[in-house]
Amino acid sequence: MLKTALHFSHQLLKECVKNGDTVVDATMGNGHDTLFLAELVGASGKVHAFDIQEQAFNATRQRLTEAKLLDRVSLHLTGHEYVLDYLQPDERIQAAIFNLGYLPNSDKNCITLPATTKQALDSLLTQLSAKGRIIVVSYYGHVGGKEELQAVDTYCQSLPQESYNVLKYQFINQKNQPPILFCIEKK
Ligand SMILES: C[S@@+](CC[C@H](N)C(=O)[O-])C[C@H]1O[C@@H](n2cnc3c(N)ncnc32)[C@H](O)[C@@H]1O
Repeated sequence: MLKTALHFSHQLLKECVKNGDTVVDATMGNGHDTLFLAELVGASGKVHAFDIQEQAFNATRQRLTEAKLLDRVSLHLTGHEYVLDYLQPDERIQAAIFNLGYLPNSDKNCITLPATTKQALDSLLTQLSAKGRIIVVSYYGHVGGKEELQAVDTYCQSLPQESYNVLKYQFINQKNQPPILFCIEKK
């Protein structure tokens, strides 16, 4: 059966992340992807995770503490647009993931925004390893979601094919605006 965007995002990460890698969860939310990445990078790897909401930060810290994996994760209570402030200039990123939208069961007005998402993508591309991947899963059913989806689509289409393979994965016959996945792979 075809994978949902969520399951496909995990497959894409699994294929490219190995023990010892440095990776980024750009939108930690409740920490599901942060935990998944912490398992993939192993004891010698590092996950940098970002969110602007204390609720997300606390939920993720608790999830990682319970899994006894907090030591390989740096949690940053700040926007992903500041990602370069938390990486060494020569620190290469093997993968990053964004889940765009709002935190489930939380304030629907606190959403990711086109300008800061683009700034974070620009920054992460400068640190991305060859064969590394940036995955963007766009939830766009909320107010402001369609504009952000359009901005990400335009951004991805503008990336030069000499340097990047870019994929868009979308179910086109489903109701209720299922998320759309983009994957940028550096050549
Ligand atoms: C769709 S949720 C993420 C869900 C998450 N992947 C999970 O496993 O629960 C989007 C998150 O992005 C966060 N967010 C909004 N603007 C942000 C920004 N500039 N930088 C980092 N996170 C941001 C929101 O607070 C929210 O928690």
